[in-house]
Amino acid sequence: MTAKRNEPYLALIAEEKSEGFTQSIQTRSLDDLPDHKVLIRVSYSSLNYKDALSASGNRGVTRNYPHTPGIDAAGVVVESCSPELKKGDEVIVTGYGLGMDTPGGFGQYIRVPTEWVIALPPGFNLKQSMIIGTAGLTAVMSLDKLERMGLKPEDGEVLVTGATGGVGSMAVMLMASAGYQVCAVTGKTDRENFLMELGASRVIDREIWLENSIRPLLTPKWAAVIDTVGGPYLTQAVQSVMPSGSVACCGMIGSNELYTSIFPFIIRGINLLGISSAEYPITEKIRLWAKLAVLIRPWMLEKLVTELSLKALPDEIQRMLCGKTAGRVIVNLWK
Ligand SMILES: NC(=O)c1ccc[n+]([C@@H]2O[C@H](COP(=O)([O-])OP(=O)(O)OC[C@H]3O[C@@H](n4cnc5c(N)ncnc54)[C@H](OP(=O)(O)O)[C@@H]3O)[C@@H](O)[C@H]2O)c1
Repeated sequence: MTAKRNEPYLALIAEEKSEGFTQSIQTRSLDDLPDHKVLIRVSYSSLNYKDALSASGNRGVTRNYPHTPGIDAAGVVVESCSPELKKGDEVIVTGYGLGMDTPGGFGQYIRVPTEWVIALPPGFNLKQSMIIGTAGLTAVMSLDKLERMGLKPEDGEVLVTGATGGVGSMAVMLMASAGYQVCAVTGKTDRENFLMELGASRVIDREIWLENSIRPLLTPKWAAVIDTVGGPYLTQAVQSVMPSGSVACCGMIGSNELYTSIFPFIIRGINLLGISSAEYPITEKIRLWAKLAVLIRPWMLEKLVTELSLKALPDEIQRMLCGKTAGRVIVNLWK
């Protein structure tokens, strides 16, 4: 497969107009892509919350518009000036600068630095790699860090917040697959069956779970927590994790704040673990993909995926911003 220098391709373009930020599918040319070493024909991308923020004008994620979001991409190398990558190689890119200030996976082509590119992880095809994507990498990074702090399935129940979301649903599936009893906290109680099918042992309505207590310590309940919501959710996780337990702080879909005293740390000896998957060193990402291949059976991925075309993406972005999506949304760039 070769590409002409000025070959046209389709991409989702987010731009600022008088009525606010809009997203539309437009034709771009390969000449418009940045001057990096590896040109990739993108087969699949995935929709993450960060993409929804980028597409809707969040300057903390993307400074300059018009812009093509998409922090994940899987495809085939079309041109490479790098000795490690050759034409025809199947590859993925997750995180680093992709889709933030570099045109991302919501375009049919990307051009990126060699250092961002990983050979397609063994055990997965291009589509499966994007069902996992940044969300799965973040979930497995959380599991990995929790286990490095000594967590074992026999320690007790683990909690996942924002459980039907991309990171949340992958975390439920991976923790269950690794042998843990998983309690899923969700705002979508009508998706209880979905969460149980992913492996949750029970599901709690977030309105019931959230105590909004000002007490520094609550009854210890969880061997560990993976929190994707932040604010009062992270606060309650810290207040109620068991002595010496750990909380993996991944997301801030609800709030970027944490209200706590030092008591959970100096009385219960709990650990608060920061998760930042985008900039994780590439060798570590490759190690985590190998861990994902052990934990995930491909049929499991079918339970949590919705596949869309580029054209359908703007509506789905709005749904994600309203917290209405569930599981993983992938984009087939050529559908
Ligand atoms: N640290 C990292 O490396 C990293 C990587 C990826 C993502 N993230 C962050 O993780 C978070 C989740 O990302 P995602 O891509 O999984 O998003 P997502 O697919 O949109 O999932 C978010 C889920 O959170 C819940 N939720 C939404 N609004 C809420 C609210 N106001 N209060 C409580 N719960 C709410 C909903 O699940 P329920 O209805 O089931 O409650 C929703 O499905 C984001 O903040 C994202 O930026 C961090």
